[in-house]
Amino acid sequence: PSFHALIPAAGSGSRMGSELPKQYIDLLGRPVIRHTLDALLAVGALSRVWVVLAPDDAHWTNYQWPSDPRITVLRCGGATRAESVANALQDVAKQTDPAAWMLVHDAARACVSPQLVARMIEELSDDPVGGLLAVPVADTLKRAGDDGRVAQTIPRAGLWQAQTPQMFRLGMLREALAAHPDVTDEAGAIEACGLSPRLIASDATNFKVTFPDDLAMAARLLLSSAA
Ligand code: C5P
Repeated sequence: PSFHALIPAAGSGSRMGSELPKQYIDLLGRPVIRHTLDALLAVGALSRVWVVLAPDDAHWTNYQWPSDPRITVLRCGGATRAESVANALQDVAKQTDPAAWMLVHDAARACVSPQLVARMIEELSDDPVGGLLAVPVADTLKRAGDDGRVAQTIPRAGLWQAQTPQMFRLGMLREALAAHPDVTDEAGAIEACGLSPRLIASDATNFKVTFPDDLAMAARLLLSSAA
């Protein structure tokens, strides 16, 4: 089967407190998503990279992009990340074998390592379900009450933080998201179908640029991995 990446990049990035959606914010002289795209294009096994933009995105065309024939832009983003991915998969399915593996990866995870993505593909390509990158939770977790005080401590044993890529077969993922649109990640839709995605150990460098302080951290990581 073939391996495709799909980058949802139709968010507005409200937590970043910026006019510009976070995938376009400057990171070392380039938009955040350019780093993400370059990392995925460096994975030789990926034969297509689909970028999902909001229908009214006015920024993409302001930049220069690599002239790599594997890149296809889809302007079908929706109101939520899951909706953006579900819409894109409907389009992709019109021209792609349902057995193709889709690696859905957040535009905002710009520090993802191509080696890690390649390892994930190797480890999951024979898997009946698929899986996702994730890291074991290191901190003790507290649930807050309405009064801003701790209502409960959640034991962290066995807890993982989900990252992306999340890798599933196109046909299975498309059906899962159509049936379960209220999930926050692809794995959630697959789980809702009664299947168990595999966890592939990742590390904290594959974090999602979410708040303004994250940009400096991302810049440091990108510079040190280029050195
Ligand atoms: O906002 P959040 O950090 O969860 O977004 C994760 C990814 O999903 C980002 O790359 C963002 O652009 C994308 N997204 C999307 N469509 C939405 C909301 C978010 O493609 N409606």
